Amino acid sequence: MRQRLKGRVGKTKLKNALNKLFQENAKKKTIIPSTNSKTKKTHNNHIQRPKKLPYHDYDTILLLGEGNFSFAFSLARQLKSAEGITATCLDSESILFEKYEDAAENVEGIIEMGGKVLYEIDCTLLSSVKSFKKEKFTKIIFNFPHAG
Ligand SMILES: C[S@@+](CC[C@H](N)C(=O)[O-])C[C@H]1O[C@@H](n2cnc3c(N)ncnc32)[C@H](O)[C@@H]1O
Repeated sequence: MRQRLKGRVGKTKLKNALNKLFQENAKKKTIIPSTNSKTKKTHNNHIQRPKKLPYHDYDTILLLGEGNFSFAFSLARQLKSAEGITATCLDSESILFEKYEDAAENVEGIIEMGGKVLYEIDCTLLSSVKSFKKEKFTKIIFNFPHAG
């Protein structure tokens, strides 16, 4: 009996020590145990935190095959600047604006935020784009491509 009691006391101490350690670690990693405006709860009550973007304001990003430029504009807004963004599409300017009624607004937004927009850029012929000869990109992205 005494032995059992000893064992229990030991376990409780260990449990308390581990709890303390977990709490300290959680503080260091700034894990927020409650929800806030940026967190959501999933159906099974797990806290879903906003995912970190794989892009940073110090990146120089080349976007290929944009459709209506909504991704580029959204990325610019997330990064709070489009200075590192060069967004391109295969279409000519006039075809783009004919195809997508929101393209003009997105393009305008990107340019206003300091980004570049280029038309008629074929991703299979990038070495022939003069302005790219002087530029270096840390990330090159083609979302949802198709071979036409
Ligand atoms: C399915 S859409 C995706 C559009 C956009 N990236 C998105 O995620 O909404 C595919 C795009 O690829 C473009 N595309 C097809 N061949 C291309 C090429 N050789 N170079 C650049 N873009 C191309 C098309 O113009 C079209 O806008």
